[in-house]
Amino acid sequence: MLRAIYPGSFDPVTLGHIDIIKRSYDIVDELIVGVLNNNAKMPLFSVEERVRMLKEATNALPGIRVIPFEGLLVDFARQMEAGLVIRGLRAITDFEYELQMSQTNHKLEPSVETMFLTANVEYSYLSSSTVKEIAAFGGDTSQFVPEAVSLAFNQKKKESNKDE
Ligand code: COA
Repeated sequence: MLRAIYPGSFDPVTLGHIDIIKRSYDIVDELIVGVLNNNAKMPLFSVEERVRMLKEATNALPGIRVIPFEGLLVDFARQMEAGLVIRGLRAITDFEYELQMSQTNHKLEPSVETMFLTANVEYSYLSSSTVKEIAAFGGDTSQFVPEAVSLAFNQKKKESNKDE
């Protein structure tokens, strides 16, 4: 049985991530979406919000688990008894970082392999930062993110308007 982890910060999850999740789901027997809880990165959305949005966006895919993790990815993989890590590659610029990460992970835990899926061209320009910038300037993010994320941006906007 092939159990895989698709890890990320998902701050927030975009349709590019969802595309990788759906395609991974068709390949492996069990998929765990691992959400990095790293407050040093100062995320816009708390880990609880990121997990909730991912769960809502993937609820049509039975059996997917969305689980937060801290620390090393290979330790999380061991804990979950997963032998495969999946990452998306959008462009050549992703490659260097991803290669370094997969080689480091392999050195730390040789039983964990990394598999790369190339991002759909439709989403190859997309990033979580871009989406956050669009939202920060009041733009419409709905064509880039799942509905749960658009709603969360609207909610944050309402809250910040109230505070002003
Ligand atoms: N579609 C759209 N966007 C994508 C994407 C895709 N298919 N793939 C990556 N991205 C974008 C994200 O939107 C995000 O954009 P941003 O930089 O503007 O925020 C960026 O690429 C990366 O985000 P994400 O995919 O969420 O992953 P990450 O790089 O934040 O996560 C971990 C990296 C969690 C896998 C890694 O940091 C990790 O394993 N950490 C644990 C510590 C550890 O084990 N370290 C040792 C390993 S060397």
